[in-house]
Amino acid sequence: MKELDSEEIAVLCHSQNIPLIVDEAHGAHLRFHKSLLPLSALHQGADISIQSTHKVLGSLTQSSMLHLSGKIVDRERICKCLQSTSPSYLLLASLDAARAQIGERPDTIFNKPVELAMEAKALVETIPGITVFNSSKYGTDPLRLTVGVWKLGISGFEANGILEKKIWSDFATSWDTFYLLYSKSRNQ
Ligand SMILES: Cc1ncc(COP(=O)(O)O)c(C=O)c1O
Repeated sequence: MKELDSEEIAVLCHSQNIPLIVDEAHGAHLRFHKSLLPLSALHQGADISIQSTHKVLGSLTQSSMLHLSGKIVDRERICKCLQSTSPSYLLLASLDAARAQIGERPDTIFNKPVELAMEAKALVETIPGITVFNSSKYGTDPLRLTVGVWKLGISGFEANGILEKKIWSDFATSWDTFYLLYSKSRNQ
C-alpha cells in the first residue's frame, strides 16, 4: 500500500468533499519561522487543525485553538458544536496573550529555540552509538529530536530509564527510538 503524505491525503479527501481534520497538538509553532519549521497542517491542505496552544506557545494548560481553512467546513456549525454557556475567561485571555506574544515577532520568535535545538542536535549526533533522525519531505521539526539507540544494543525504554533524571522524553519505544522534547535546563 502506498504511503500518502498530508497534501495527497488532502487532495483525496477533497475529491470526495470530505474535510481533512488534523490533530496538530504539538504544532502550534509551525507557522512561526521563516524556513526551518515544517509546513503546518493547514498549509498542507487540511481543513481543520486542532493545536494545543499550551504545549508549545505560551497559553495556560488546557487551552487550545481550532483553526479552519477552505470552504468545505461549515464554520457556523463548528462554532455551534463548540459553544459553552460557561467559557473560561482565564483560558481565553491566556490564548489571547499567547497570540499577542507571537504576533509581536512572528517571524523571529522561534529563532533562538530553533538555534539552540539545532546546536543540541549537532552535539547529540557526535555521541557514539546514537543516531539522530532526519527525514520527511516537509522537513523535520528541529524542536523535536528523535534518537535511535539500537547501535548501543539497548531499547528506547532502557535509554529513557537512564536519561530520565535529566531529560524529559515525550515518547519511548520498546525497540530503539525515543523523542527528546525538553531538557530541564540548558546546562543539562
Ligand atoms: C497527538 C496528541 N493529540 C492530542 C493531545 C491532547 O492535547 P491536550 O492536552 O491539549 O488536550 C496530545 C497530548 O499530549 C497529543 O500528544
